[in-house]
Amino acid sequence: GLMSDLLGFPKMEKKLASLLAIDHVLIVPGDSDEQPPVLKRLGQLLNNTLSLLLPDGRNVIAAMGGTTMAAVAKEFTPQLARQRQLLFVPARGGVGELVDIQANAICSQMAQNTGGEHRSLYVPENVSERTYEPLLKEPSIKPVLDLISHANVVIHSIGEAMTMASRRQMSDDVIAELEQKQAVAEAFGYFFDETGQVVYKIPRIGLQIRDLNDIPYVFAVAAGAKKATAIRAYMHNAPHQTWFITDESAANSLLKGA
Ligand code: BG6
Repeated sequence: GLMSDLLGFPKMEKKLASLLAIDHVLIVPGDSDEQPPVLKRLGQLLNNTLSLLLPDGRNVIAAMGGTTMAAVAKEFTPQLARQRQLLFVPARGGVGELVDIQANAICSQMAQNTGGEHRSLYVPENVSERTYEPLLKEPSIKPVLDLISHANVVIHSIGEAMTMASRRQMSDDVIAELEQKQAVAEAFGYFFDETGQVVYKIPRIGLQIRDLNDIPYVFAVAAGAKKATAIRAYMHNAPHQTWFITDESAANSLLKGA
């Protein structure tokens, strides 16, 4: 309703933050599974929150890929770059997903909408350790990795394990392993079971989950009731300073399962 549009859901946000053991939750009205405009609201809320929170001056923002990220990137505005120099970098290699939802494309969109800069990381999603070791020293890759390691902001989403495994065309063997280990969530290329245990990891270049602890501004944007199980599983690992931006339907479902 109108009141909730204006005021948000302060009680629910507090409850959910304490349930997930993170510092901040923000909820937009609606259900993004049913109403695509809800994703737009998530993006606007993220843009406004970043505008209020980020320090003046230089900010290095590491962004992940996915359909949620692609939708929220469209809502970024020049307001965000007021008093700031923004540099968007892909948090991890991710060439292999559809081009529009790769982190490279999302960083480019965010830079374009705000008037900031961006860098690209041309590394496949899924490479063996032997292949990527020498890549770390490549002149086109190393400077971007250095930037990622200095990011003060991370923005990512959270996926359902099996949806992400098939979208990324992981092998039948890996899919069987994920099923056997009861993976329910995926974020940053890590797969988690319901208790938050990492059960599988895609060897990818860039940000690792342990790095999140040292990053002052971490934003997790994920919505829709069908992601509730994945969100809950991932949040066992989320650093406390996380801002979780979600919709009413995911929030209700998380609180009901409590
Ligand atoms: C990305 C994360 O931001 O979002 C992935 O890096 C996650 O790890 C994905 O699985 C979720 O994608 P979508 O399309 O559901 O937003």
